[in-house]
Amino acid sequence: MIIETFITSPFEQNTRVLACVKTRRAVCVDPGDSAETIAAYINENNFNLQAITLTHAHLDHIGGVSDLFKLFPNAEIILHAGDEDLYYGLPEQPLFMGIPRHQLKALGLEYEAPPPLTRHWRDGEIYAVGTLNFKILHCPGHTRGHVIFVEENERKVFSGDCLFAGSIGRTDLPGGDYEQLISSITEKILPLGDDVTVYSGHGDNTTIGRERTTNPFLTGAYQMSLGNSG
Ligand SMILES: [Fe+2]
Repeated sequence: MIIETFITSPFEQNTRVLACVKTRRAVCVDPGDSAETIAAYINENNFNLQAITLTHAHLDHIGGVSDLFKLFPNAEIILHAGDEDLYYGLPEQPLFMGIPRHQLKALGLEYEAPPPLTRHWRDGEIYAVGTLNFKILHCPGHTRGHVIFVEENERKVFSGDCLFAGSIGRTDLPGGDYEQLISSITEKILPLGDDVTVYSGHGDNTTIGRERTTNPFLTGAYQMSLGNSG
């Protein structure tokens, strides 16, 4: 698999282009911004962009969908139904994050309504990109409709904002649920195997083994620190 990462938006989100070496078919995971840079990379490499595949619909993951779709109007746009309200509500998202309306333009957070979704992810479906096969797993908790993409043969998971190197996604925004996120990680991500490389929505790559043994939210260290804080 060819993996190219673009760090996009003021939130330093990891947008990725994933491509099949054999067929040059590709997807763009979470275009947060920088559509022209992403498009130039796709065209220079003669990739055929078949879809914009979204882990979830927070603004830093979908802010570039409109512009990218204008450049690749044949691409599908796929999201879990649980995040559809967030997706179509993109222009309002900065406001519920507490950013004043008069600051949106200066911060680059003024968004137009995004283009219609092609369809919704189904939990457990296999999504083929050339010879690559991504298993789609619904992992709610950071948002209601968050999904992860697992390529079992390649031993890779694209975990969006569920799991980070040394941390987990925030759960204080609408639709967030801490207990649900921990369940998603422990029941759906950790069983994938310690050798699996984790490509997160923010920050560095890691492995499931490393997170299982050192991530304070998974080892109990975080819960212990809450208990000790009295
Ligand atoms: Fe997010």
